[in-house]
Amino acid sequence: MDFKVSSLLFIAILCLISSTSTAFNITKILAQYPEFVSFNDLLTQSGLAKEMSSRETITVLALDNSSIGGLSGRPLDIAKRILSAHVILDYYDQIKLSKLKKASTIVTTLYQASGAADDRQGFLNISRTAEGIKFGSAVKGAPLVASLVKPVYAQPYNISVLQVSEPIEAPGIENMAPPPPPAAVPKKAPAPTAKSPSKAPAPSKVEPSTPTESPTEGPVAADGPVADVPTASPLADAPMADETTAEAASSQMHAGGAVVVIGLLACMMGF
Ligand SMILES: *[C@@H]1O[C@H](CO)[C@@H](O)[C@H](O)[C@H]1NC(C)=O
Ligand SMILES: *[C@@H]1O[C@H](CO)[C@@H](O)[C@H](O)[C@H]1NC(C)=O
Ligand SMILES: *[C@@H]1O[C@H](CO)[C@@H](O)[C@H](O)[C@H]1NC(C)=O
Ligand SMILES: *[C@@H]1O[C@H](CO)[C@@H](O)[C@H](O)[C@H]1NC(C)=O
Repeated sequence: MDFKVSSLLFIAILCLISSTSTAFNITKILAQYPEFVSFNDLLTQSGLAKEMSSRETITVLALDNSSIGGLSGRPLDIAKRILSAHVILDYYDQIKLSKLKKASTIVTTLYQASGAADDRQGFLNISRTAEGIKFGSAVKGAPLVASLVKPVYAQPYNISVLQVSEPIEAPGIENMAPPPPPAAVPKKAPAPTAKSPSKAPAPSKVEPSTPTESPTEGPVAADGPVADVPTASPLADAPMADETTAEAASSQMHAGGAVVVIGLLACMMGF
């Protein structure tokens, strides 16, 4: 009895930990601003909102209802490519932008992390100009089409939302072959193998790269396994020490084990 209750508690805590490992929910953040309703809808429909939630550090260049018009008429997969190039994999708020030393800075976007980008389509050029901060595709010759309108939301140093004046469309982004099938998306794949001990070395090899250039697959994938691995042992050991005979203990262990498995499954599916 007690054992089951404590197992359930333990699972509840685990679930809580794994769900709070999401740094932010862009859908909820944007829901506070009616002018970004269409932009927010597109992020949800295209699945980008979900992809963003597995990131720890992003800057979203948001388009309000009046400037997103052209994008919402496009096929969803193309709108997704274009919008994913509005998600910078680094933190830039207005303060940081105003302190940029160089006249222009190249930043990496979520489109680059998708692996579908060609040339410099997955990068943006942020430039200081006489008219203020401007954004454009980093592809050679692409214009700085969008101006910074205003900062919308900031949660340093995990997420910043900046409103920009126009969609930024990398030349040729709409002509590309369809993005690779879902199997090529690396983020969620490691979850089912969480219990395999061979996962351990993975996170360490990401350290030396610079934060801007490396898509953060490594650390992201590591979240699940780290949380999951220790579950079995503490559960099995802790509550059994003094109270019962061997048979009772083993049957409780079975019940407890089943509860753990069901709980973890539920947890993963909800996740
Ligand atoms: C915020 O980002 C940092 C890395 O930039 C990360 O270590 C931290 O866990 C993130 N915070 C949350 C709540 O995820
Ligand atoms: C973010 O919040 C929305 C609405 O509040 C919810 O439907 C969605 O599942 C949440 N996404 C994540 C990844 O938690
Ligand atoms: C933006 O458009 C959506 C639907 O297209 C609408 O519900 C919302 O009220 C609009 N917001 C503003 C500020 O115009
Ligand atoms: C960014 O764009 C501006 C204007 O097109 C260009 O002059 C500058 O060289 C670009 N910066 C980089 C690093 O490519």
